[in-house]
Amino acid sequence: MSGPFAAVKISDHVYWVGAIDWGIRDFHGYSTFRGSTYNAYLIVADDFILIDTVKAPFKDELLSRVASVTDPKNIRYIISNHSEMDHSGCLPQVIAEVEPDKVFASPNGVKALAAHFHMDREITAVKDGDSLALGGVNLSFLETRMLHWPDSMVTYLAEDRLLFSQDGFGMHLASAERFADEIDECAIVEEGAKYYANILTPYSALVTRLIERVGSLGIKIEILCPDHGPVWRKDPGRIIGLWSKWAEQAPTEKALVVYDTMWGSTEKMALAISEGLIGSGVRALVMPLRSCGRSDIATELLDAGALLVGTPTINNGIFPTVADVLTYLKGLKFKNLIGAAFGSYGWSGEGYKLLNEELASLKVDIAADPIAVNYVPDGDALARCREFGAAIGRHLKEVVKGGS
Ligand code: FEO
Repeated sequence: MSGPFAAVKISDHVYWVGAIDWGIRDFHGYSTFRGSTYNAYLIVADDFILIDTVKAPFKDELLSRVASVTDPKNIRYIISNHSEMDHSGCLPQVIAEVEPDKVFASPNGVKALAAHFHMDREITAVKDGDSLALGGVNLSFLETRMLHWPDSMVTYLAEDRLLFSQDGFGMHLASAERFADEIDECAIVEEGAKYYANILTPYSALVTRLIERVGSLGIKIEILCPDHGPVWRKDPGRIIGLWSKWAEQAPTEKALVVYDTMWGSTEKMALAISEGLIGSGVRALVMPLRSCGRSDIATELLDAGALLVGTPTINNGIFPTVADVLTYLKGLKFKNLIGAAFGSYGWSGEGYKLLNEELASLKVDIAADPIAVNYVPDGDALARCREFGAAIGRHLKEVVKGGS
């Protein structure tokens, strides 16, 4: 009995046999409002080869989709491109049920799978540049270390000019459609950018180098099969081009105003600052932390040129929600941003000063000394805030003009 799930034919030799996670809304701290997919692929040639598995609770869905093509016990080889558990979580159970002849992973993948699953099972290492004639097809492997784990690799199927790119060029997007050309372009760009901003930003230099390397090797990619989101069967260059652009993070005339507030004073400042930014001719996006999540802020920062952050002082420090988002952004290592701090305070007023130091530690180019207001801003204070925003807006326009 194969169960209710069906495989989807992708190319001459490849079927999609992954799982759709319609309900996931939080992927290790990043909000996934459109769910996700864990893509696995079955190569059908002289032998059956499984590329990656899925998150552990979705094992039966994976095997059901395989069973719509062949008895899963016919899988002779498994290739694990990436050991993170959304792709390897059910690998031990699949190995136990299928009993493949061989399982392949990168050298770091062999170590990572051992450290995750402690299996009494040999995993065969394939190195960067290795090729294998396996089950009637030709497969080549490129290690993509730190894109985005040390073990990551991609697998190229020469016969179909198809690249299994693991997390590369993916997005968290659950859909009934399997191909990017069947899905609304806005959803594709929005979720693609969110995925890049929240996972790949720290590795942007490596992304650029990988795209250049694939180009210099002359690898023809007609179909791009990532481990999340849709398959690119038409114009895979579209998503590759978007990744190149996102890796560059060229600043634009867009400024984010991110803040939290205790009694409304920092909020009044944020709104006056944003009016100044708008008046200077840049696009301001106001993101109050009571209603905007950290991963949405990261997404909006991907094509921004300025980050202005506001905090009240609480217990001699930064407001906790503001500290949370700064910690998150610090790890993502955004570049090419100018910025400034602002905030209200009651007596000692450390918050905005500490915030300024935190912004500098994020490598944000501080465009102005922080602006602060005691207790509640009056009309003069709000006029100063407006001018503060306008000055940063003018500076941002100069920065963008200088870079173009
Ligand atoms: Fe989709 Fe890095 O796992």
